[in-house]
Amino acid sequence: MRRAKISVIGAGNVGATCAHWAAAKELGDVVLLDIPDKEGVAKGKALDLLCCGPIERFDSMVTGTSDYRDIAGSDVVILTAGLPRKPGMSRDDLIQTNVKIVKSVSEQIREHAPESIVIVVSNPLDAMVYTAWKATGFPTNRILGQAGALDVARFRTFIAMEIGCSIEDVSALLLGGHGDDMVPLPRYTSVHGIPVSQLLSKEKIDACVERAKVGGGEIVKLMGTSAYYAPASGSVQMAEAIIKDKKRIIPCAAYCENEYGVAPGQKGKGYFVGAPCVLGAGGMEKVIEIDLDAGEKKLMDESVSHVKDLVKVVREMFPELA
Ligand code: NAI
Ligand code: 2OP
Repeated sequence: MRRAKISVIGAGNVGATCAHWAAAKELGDVVLLDIPDKEGVAKGKALDLLCCGPIERFDSMVTGTSDYRDIAGSDVVILTAGLPRKPGMSRDDLIQTNVKIVKSVSEQIREHAPESIVIVVSNPLDAMVYTAWKATGFPTNRILGQAGALDVARFRTFIAMEIGCSIEDVSALLLGGHGDDMVPLPRYTSVHGIPVSQLLSKEKIDACVERAKVGGGEIVKLMGTSAYYAPASGSVQMAEAIIKDKKRIIPCAAYCENEYGVAPGQKGKGYFVGAPCVLGAGGMEKVIEIDLDAGEKKLMDESVSHVKDLVKVVREMFPELA
């Protein structure tokens, strides 16, 4: 059987950790790519990781490179290239630098891995997924953003900590952009089937929602740069669902037009926003629409409007991406 191939662009904190999770889960062979100045870093981290194989018992091949020809034949490309935020910065502050990087990387993916499914991680996420979509020209099912997998994991963690139960039993959902205006949905959150509202007070649930929203910022304040273990874990969870055709339902930044009223009736003029999706061999196989009450819809509309503002900046910088 042919092994799957996963290429990770950017061998920094998130990229190297994606390579780590992907190799350890034996998802396939892993290529870690960075700019020529950091080729040694990409090669060194790849070799170091490869040598974990005998201990951790995985047979994945892991290679480092700065040559895009090495990503040829990738099933999944995880795009992590770009600056992370520093204390005091929002994700949006990264847009000017990262849009240029994501555009140039996407053009290379289009040339060298034209059949791949791309999972974008670089921030500001929703605008960078849009950039990758336009710059690759890939169909919308083959472009996804990683945000919801992470944000919902944070929300589930804080709920489990508050209840004092196993994280495995907490199931939750979240919509919207990957910003502080993301929309965690307590109404769709349960603990082994028990609605969370029967286990926690409204105040405690609200505190978990708030902590999930600013969870990325909490880590930036603590360590001076952005998180990478959970972001990489979320990205590889998505890659695994695709490579193994698992049809998992995972919240992702996915292309929406009519869905959630993002751009109703405007064919080809939609946006990538966080929504529950079915992930399988076809990439993003379906966006699942759920019922929202008036309050949830208002929050979702605000979050989508923020995503649109960010995309406007991309279009102003690169009119060809409009
Ligand atoms: P990092 O600075 O550790 O690594 C970024 C890497 O990208 C560097 O090694 C850099 O040399 C490389 N790079 C820059 N330009 C490149 C290019 N043109 N081609 C190939 N590689 C290039 O940063 P970190 O922490 O890994 O974060 C990466 C990105 O992911 C940031 O934009 C960050 O904000 C974002 N992020 C997104 C999350 C999400 O949930 N969507 C969560 C955490 C981080
Ligand atoms: C996070 O949420 C910075 O987007 C990154 O940790």
